[in-house]
Amino acid sequence: MKRESIILIGFMGSGKTTVGMRLSYKIRRPVEDLDKMIERREACTISELFATKGEEYFREKETELLRELVRKKRQGILSAGGGTPMRQQNRDLLKQLGTVVYLRVRPETVYERLKWDKSRPLLQCKDPLSRIQELMESRAGAYESCADIIVDADELDLDEIQNRILRRLTK
Ligand code: S3P
Repeated sequence: MKRESIILIGFMGSGKTTVGMRLSYKIRRPVEDLDKMIERREACTISELFATKGEEYFREKETELLRELVRKKRQGILSAGGGTPMRQQNRDLLKQLGTVVYLRVRPETVYERLKWDKSRPLLQCKDPLSRIQELMESRAGAYESCADIIVDADELDLDEIQNRILRRLTK
C-alpha cells in the first residue's frame, strides 16, 4: 500500500470515526478525528462551541486545522466532520492530505443511528429526518466531487467496509 494518508468523509453517523479507528488498528497507523482535535483545542464540546461562538467560528477552525495538517504533512488516518467537505478550500486541503474515502449512507440509516443523539447541534430540531434529507441532498455533490473512493456503507458490516477500503487502496 502507498504510504499515504486515508481521509474519511461522509454525513454525520456514516461511521467515519468507528471505521477510522478500526483501520488504524488494522494497518497500524495513527488516527485523528477533526472534531476531537477542535474540541481539545477549544476546550469544549462541538455543541458548546456552536452555542457560544456559532457555526461560522467552528467552520473557520476546521479550515485552520486542515491547513495546519497539510503544512505539517500529517500521515495516518483522519476522520473529517460531516460538513468539512462543504468548502471548496477544505476539499482541496483534504485531497492534499491523502486518499479521500466517502462513506455513503441513506438518510434513514443516519436517522436510526442518531435519533437519540444530542451531540450533533445541526440535528437538534423538531423533524430531524427531514433535516437529514435536506442536508444530505445539498451535500451529496460536494462529497462525491471530493472522493477518490466511494463506499456504499448501509448494508455492510464494519469488516466489509474496512476490507473494501483496503482492497481499493492496494489496487
Ligand atoms: C457536522 C458534523 C459533525 C460535527 C458538527 C457539524 C456537520 O461531525 O463536525 O456537529 O455539519 O455535518 P460528525 O460527522 O463526526 O458527526
